[in-house]
Amino acid sequence: MSMKDFTPGAFPALRPRRLRQADWTRRLVRETTLLRSDLIWALVVHDGAAARVPVPSMPGADRLSIEAAVEAAIEAEKLGIPAIAIFPQIDVKKKNALGTEAANPDGLVCRTVKAMKAAAPGVGIMVDVALDPFTDHGHDGVIEGGRILNDESVARLVDQAVVQAEAGADIVAPSDMMDGRVGAIRAALEKAGKTDTLIMSYAAKYASAFYGPYRDAIGSASVLQGDKKTYQMDPANTDEALRECALDVAEGADMLMVKPGLPYLDIIRRVKDAFALPTYAFQVSGEYAMIRAAAANGWLDEDRAIRETLGAFKRAGADGIITYFAPRAAAMLDA
Ligand code: PBG
Repeated sequence: MSMKDFTPGAFPALRPRRLRQADWTRRLVRETTLLRSDLIWALVVHDGAAARVPVPSMPGADRLSIEAAVEAAIEAEKLGIPAIAIFPQIDVKKKNALGTEAANPDGLVCRTVKAMKAAAPGVGIMVDVALDPFTDHGHDGVIEGGRILNDESVARLVDQAVVQAEAGADIVAPSDMMDGRVGAIRAALEKAGKTDTLIMSYAAKYASAFYGPYRDAIGSASVLQGDKKTYQMDPANTDEALRECALDVAEGADMLMVKPGLPYLDIIRRVKDAFALPTYAFQVSGEYAMIRAAAANGWLDEDRAIRETLGAFKRAGADGIITYFAPRAAAMLDA
């Protein structure tokens, strides 16, 4: 080619593929990284003796006994997974309209937290603040005449969060989407002397189809009456997510979460850009189930799909990801 055919600022002077020619160049120019330290391991616990009880819609993410959850905490410590988020399956006999079991200091969640912290004190333990595992109607709050009562629900969530913090939970994560709950929980934690307890707010949580397998796992699917659209957000909205986050930040949230994950990458980016706070994505049960199901059929390469989806959250601006894949991902990632 002669120089007169050569146009600066265009092909062939510019060949982006040069940077992709070898593994070493690709590693050298990589813009985001996914590490073990980005992971929060989501797991479901139950109060029975069986170490692991399979959940048909979440193959591989079994319900664990307290003993098995303790083993998981020890494994997390070995793998360098910084934190575990636990979700309880509560015996139907303990469920009632007000979800009173949620604030039982000797309940499943508090006993699990204590056992995990005793065995693996270096692993952060996060707990959900919401009533849905404990109510006989499956809603996250208190219900009257078909309406979810905000302020009455907040009062119960506050009791729940304080009890969890007193049991040793490091992060309380309100997933209920009631108005004003972060501020009320923060005030109660201060009053209880729990000044170091972190609040990760499920700030932008959408009324999503992707929670189905989780509701099977905790046993709320069979009891849930109606839907959660009066408190969880409309999937069509994005400005509303920023407003929810702004309120939670003002009320004392330390960390923000967007949930579900992959269908809401745009929200993660906006939240991270707007608040510059630690921001987390929840790769929820339905996202887990989709990857597992496709992989089980041989339709996609599971390890690559896990890496790519978790990496997408980092690229979108997340500082970490809550995922049922955490131990499996950790095994293929650097510390
Ligand atoms: C509700 C709650 C949900 C999840 C955790 N806590 C959603 C819901 O049932 O409405 C979802 C977790 C998942 O799907 O993995 N407090």
